Amino acid sequence: MTDENSLMIRKIALSFAMHAEADPIAGRLGLSEPRILREGLPARIRTGRCGHIDIMLCAQGIDPVHGVDRIGTESAALTAWVLAEEHEPDLLINAGTCGGFECRGGAVGKTYLAGGHFLYHDHLIPIPGFKELGEGRIPVTPYGAIEELLAIESGPVSSGVSLTTNDHERAFFEREEVVAKDMEATAIASVARDLALPFMALKTVTDLVDHPEPSQDAFQRNLASSTEQLTDHLERLLRFLAEGRTLGELSR
Ligand code: ADE
Repeated sequence: MTDENSLMIRKIALSFAMHAEADPIAGRLGLSEPRILREGLPARIRTGRCGHIDIMLCAQGIDPVHGVDRIGTESAALTAWVLAEEHEPDLLINAGTCGGFECRGGAVGKTYLAGGHFLYHDHLIPIPGFKELGEGRIPVTPYGAIEELLAIESGPVSSGVSLTTNDHERAFFEREEVVAKDMEATAIASVARDLALPFMALKTVTDLVDHPEPSQDAFQRNLASSTEQLTDHLERLLRFLAEGRTLGELSR
C-alpha cells in the first residue's frame, strides 16, 4: 500500500476568495492569465510552475449580477470541488484574509496557519446530530514544519457568511478560542475531507473582531497591506515546497 505521506508534492491548488488576494502571488510566480475554471461558474484559474511544482490558482470570480468578488462559503465549496476534481492536486491551500482577535494576540497583518479544528460560527441547527454538523469541527492536519518555516502561530479558524459579528458569535469565538474568522476555510475543509485531499489554510488579519472599529472599514483600509504579508508567506512556503517535500515531512 502506498503511504500518501511519503509521496513528493508535485501539484498544488491554491484557492482564494478575492482577486485582490490572489493576483499578487500569481504575479510573483508568473502564472498564466485567468481562464474560466468551468463553464457556468464565475471562478477563474491561473496556472504555472514554481520550480518542479505545478500550481493551479483559483479565485472565486466576479459575480455577474453584482460585479464584485463572489466571496462566501457556498462559492468556496463549489469552486474547491471543481478545482480538486478537475486538477487532482496533491495539496489544496486556502489562502486569504480574516478577522483577528486582539484578546488572543491578533494584530492587523499577522498571519495564522489553521490549527485545531475548522469551525462554523453561524450554522445554528439545535437538533442533536445536526448541531454538530452545523459546527463543522473538522480536524486540522497539523503542519508543524510550516509553522516553523514561516515563524507563525496556528489556531482555530471559524467560517460564516457575514463580515460583521453578533454577540452569539462573539461568545462562540471565546469558547472555541478562535484566532481567525473568515468566510471560506471550513467550507473548503469539508470538501477536502470528502475527497480525502490534504488541506491547509493560511490567513492574514485585516481587521480585529474585538475592536470597536467596524470590520468593513478596517478590512477595506488594510486589504492591500495584509495581502502583501500573506503573499510573502505564501511565496516562501511554495518555494520551500518546490525544493521537493513530502506531506509527511510537513506534518510533524
Ligand atoms: N475576512 C476579513 N475580515 C473578515 C471578518 N471580519 N469576517 C469574515 N471574513 C473576513
